Amino acid sequence: MKQFFSWLLLVAGLCGGSTPLCAQAPQALTYSEHIAPIVYTHCTPCHRRGEVGPFPLTNYQEVASKAQTIKFVTGIRYMPPWKADPKYSHFLDENTLTDSQIQQIKDWVDNGAPRGNPNQEPPLPAYPAGSQLGTPDLVVPMAQAYTHQGNLKDIYRVFVLPTHLQQDQDIAAVEFRPGNKRITHHALLGQDTTQRGPQRDVAQEGYGYTNFGGYGFSPTEENWGSWVPGAQARYYPSGLGKKLYKGANILLQVHYGPTPLTQSDSSVVNIFFARQPVRRYVQTIPLSPIQITNGPFVIPANMVRTFHAEFQVPTDVSLVSVLPHAHLLGKSWKIWAVKPTGDTIRILKINSWNFNWQGAYRFPTLLRIPAGSRIMAEGTYDNTTNNPRNPFSPPQTVTWGEETTAEMFVVYLDAVPYRPGDESLVLSAQTEKELFQRPQTKLYPVYPNPTGGGSVTVGFALAHSAPVKLTLTDARGRVVRQLAPSRTFASGPHEVKVATEHLPTGLYFVKLETPDFSQTQKLVVGP
Ligand code: HEC
Repeated sequence: MKQFFSWLLLVAGLCGGSTPLCAQAPQALTYSEHIAPIVYTHCTPCHRRGEVGPFPLTNYQEVASKAQTIKFVTGIRYMPPWKADPKYSHFLDENTLTDSQIQQIKDWVDNGAPRGNPNQEPPLPAYPAGSQLGTPDLVVPMAQAYTHQGNLKDIYRVFVLPTHLQQDQDIAAVEFRPGNKRITHHALLGQDTTQRGPQRDVAQEGYGYTNFGGYGFSPTEENWGSWVPGAQARYYPSGLGKKLYKGANILLQVHYGPTPLTQSDSSVVNIFFARQPVRRYVQTIPLSPIQITNGPFVIPANMVRTFHAEFQVPTDVSLVSVLPHAHLLGKSWKIWAVKPTGDTIRILKINSWNFNWQGAYRFPTLLRIPAGSRIMAEGTYDNTTNNPRNPFSPPQTVTWGEETTAEMFVVYLDAVPYRPGDESLVLSAQTEKELFQRPQTKLYPVYPNPTGGGSVTVGFALAHSAPVKLTLTDARGRVVRQLAPSRTFASGPHEVKVATEHLPTGLYFVKLETPDFSQTQKLVVGP
């Protein structure tokens, strides 16, 4: 080994890495310079003391002692456990390694995992304790600590958390804070205004009740929030929000992972009220077995089956997030939309579904799905012995149900009615800041389009304050209308309503002009 290293140094010294021969030689990769930056970005969010990762990876000794396993789990892309295919679509909190990072880890391990110069090591990032969003308006805690037995088994436990709200409340953000992160694997949140939750709680011994696939009944709102390790809580853009109903109970389903040590958890839900009036409520569009086109939803023993569901959106919507849900037979997901024009909008692809890593995937900016588009979902289930998670051995025919031994096919799409400019709106960790990603000057598609003669909305955003000229021209380029008084607009988003009642039917163009920018969008005036 020693000889090998001196050979390596010699080669590196001789070529300086530029000739074709030398480009092939393994780089002298070190922990300090190459591996620590990868680990401290992609692994320590979970692999540090007190977090869900089974061991810490916070310094050279900890990482080097696991070198072979790390090479293996990164090589097969088992870790980091980000399930959405980054070659298909992108989301907030995305945590994946590039091919070259995986190769670097492999080469480093194969070269004996050298440390390099400790002075080059980056510091471990600061991980702030407490709320990531500020001071909550309402803190809804678990009423008691829950004791999770050290028997190496998973538990899915639902807790019913009363909010004691006297009136409906508009919500800008919901944050789940795990009490004991070593055992808290994921959490799903719903809300319910009936007594069905408390009834289930008293019917079972101990605090809360055990239920695998959901809450054990269909609550007022099933998909109110979710959490997986590494997911950051965020505010909805202002003007968007969810409702928390008067007297509602929050249903909190927590998945506690296997542990050899009996330990307890008391988690809390932090709620942040909307500061701005909510004009658009985030609502869940569910795709479920009713929309399956190749049903019934039965997965015969020893079969791999793919179900296809689809749903047509009647009006333009903007998607905020997507959350697919299957159980242990689930193998993969593909979710996309086909526009009336035939174009495809990619939504989410999961190549290896894992029940333990489910949660909402939130889009980098709101994702517009035009009216008439069909949203499609394909879920594949493996009910053979090749599936190590198959709850039956030998396999048995499986149908719909909430139990571990039954299956589900659900896709929750959180959406609001579309407004021009949504293409730039993001979920944010701060209220009024960061709401617009990359401030860019832009003219958005006119909405609705075609118009039947009512008013249309023209949305645009400005990177800097600028004098703006907004005109409507006909197909021959003649200016038909000046849409806004020529004046200076502030940076950020703007909207102008334009009446189209007296325009002859035909094709028109809306044009946005600033001193250093111009863009045109089509508008069709129909009969
Ligand atoms: C989102 C949280 C999270 C992140 C990020 C994460 N891990 Fe893990 N890791 C876990 C959990 C939880 C386990 C426990 C086993 C499981 O759930 O598969 C685990 C298990 C492991 C194991 C043991 C696998 C086995 O079967 O023995 C290794 C090795 C590992 N992680 C390495 C890494 C490396 C390297 C990274 C970064 C490139 C990373 N992990 C990123 C949460 C995470």
